[in-house]
Amino acid sequence: MDNILSPSLLSIDFNNIEKNANVLDEAGVKWYHLDVMDGAFVPNISFGPPVIKAIRKITDAFFDVHLMINEPKRYIDAFKDAGADILTIHYEACEDLDETISLIRKAGLKVGLAINPETDTKVLKPYIDKVDMILIMSVHPGFGGQKFMPVAIEKLNKVKEWSEKINPDLLIEVDGGINFDNVSTVLDAGANVIVAGSACFNGNIAENVSRFFEVLG
Ligand code: DX5
Ligand code: ZN
Repeated sequence: MDNILSPSLLSIDFNNIEKNANVLDEAGVKWYHLDVMDGAFVPNISFGPPVIKAIRKITDAFFDVHLMINEPKRYIDAFKDAGADILTIHYEACEDLDETISLIRKAGLKVGLAINPETDTKVLKPYIDKVDMILIMSVHPGFGGQKFMPVAIEKLNKVKEWSEKINPDLLIEVDGGINFDNVSTVLDAGANVIVAGSACFNGNIAENVSRFFEVLG
């Protein structure tokens, strides 16, 4: 399976979003990571469906929508209409996780399941063959530009082991604090979808992206 780079648009210059999105596309980026925050599940507010809908008009990229919101099942149709391709929900944010997963599927979208750094990896095991992607958070969600938490490595190892046995097509995403120094380590640990916000958008975007592609292969 090819590794995927999913730049987090939380760190894009929103005054120049179209120009910068074009730079991503021309550099060969296929996924956009879109961080939705509700000020309740996480202590920050970002953007929602109207902004995603606007970005949808300027790119054909696959929209990897990371929902850091409580009870995301209330907004599945809104994100579908906005142009999401996969909705990743948090284990910690859903009262009825199975119902939420099946509602996302019924809407015709792919589904991802995320856990925070302090959540035990074992809660994911029953879902390895029920979702398209597992997201291991390597920072406390809420803000870009934080430091990578090494606890993510053992979590990725476990998910990779389960995926080999149960669901070899599973996408394994890691999000938070990924940079040129630690990206090889998370790939070795089992990640195949790499989110990077500040490391993509600080400095020259095209150069940063091509540096990531060199490591991702
Ligand atoms: C954090 C978000 C991340 C964030 C990553 O809550 O989920 O996607 O934007 O940013 P960096 O790569 O700067 O840690
Ligand atoms: Zn994210």
